[in-house]
Amino acid sequence: MEPSRVKATVTSLRSVEFGVADLDRSRAFYEDVWRLVPVAHADGAAYFRGSGGEHHIVVLRAADEPGLLQATFAARDRIAVDALYDQIARAGGTPIGQPGPLDAPGAGYGFAFDDPEGRRFAIASDIATLPDEGSPEDRPVKLSHLVINAADADRSTAFFREALGFRLRDQTARMDFLGCNPDHHTVAIVRAGNVSLNHTAFEVPDLDSLMRGSARIRRAGHALEWGIGRHGPGSNVFAYFCDPSELAIEYTTGIQQVDDRTYRPGGPSDWRPPIAGNPDYWGFAAPPSERFERASSGRHRERAGAG
Ligand SMILES: [Fe+2]
Repeated sequence: MEPSRVKATVTSLRSVEFGVADLDRSRAFYEDVWRLVPVAHADGAAYFRGSGGEHHIVVLRAADEPGLLQATFAARDRIAVDALYDQIARAGGTPIGQPGPLDAPGAGYGFAFDDPEGRRFAIASDIATLPDEGSPEDRPVKLSHLVINAADADRSTAFFREALGFRLRDQTARMDFLGCNPDHHTVAIVRAGNVSLNHTAFEVPDLDSLMRGSARIRRAGHALEWGIGRHGPGSNVFAYFCDPSELAIEYTTGIQQVDDRTYRPGGPSDWRPPIAGNPDYWGFAAPPSERFERASSGRHRERAGAG
């Protein structure tokens, strides 16, 4: 049963910070091929925006082991940041210091924390916004969702709900889909048996953008690793690629908009693809490539869950 007190909730996924093998190569890819726009370079990291108003949505930093270094969620204001700080600590997360002014590009107010499986996240409000550039066809607007592999998915899902106010929107045999705003899911958690990044999805404006963008990426020499297809939960259209550090990334569009008052989450028996064994609900896409399976499974950079 849900506790009766009002939960503090995050409101969106602002940005992800990737550790990358070759910073110059990844910078060129995310600017020229993936079509983000550089906005800052600070403390050895490169910051990129989408066409929406978020100051930055991707941070790239050189790292020995590529992967997700941190993901930052938005909170409405400083009061919400402070409330989330308390809620995270109560739910078994480990805050890193106290909420306070941030000093990265875009600044704002917030704090970082580790979740119970040892992933690093941050909460931030009051980050500078940039002029919304509308929805140019060939550029990602914002982050859509983050999918993480979990050693103990039940534990991680419970933490995201209790600590960050996420709502369980759907559950399949393999994944829990969690939302924090009308987008069907902003985080999904995979019963993977290891703690790692599965993939990061970028929202593009519409189907033409997804098709033309995917064609452009392919012309630049990057294979389409899975797609074009339509997911079941969330009903979004997908096209998956691998970045130069073998991180799995997705262009997506048309994610279902959900009203928590009326939406009824489905369970594993509700989510069987129309064509058995093909997770593309159109039944059009071939199975994910072996390269994509490797990149998204975390198996090649496996580490045990904390605790
Ligand atoms: Fe996705």
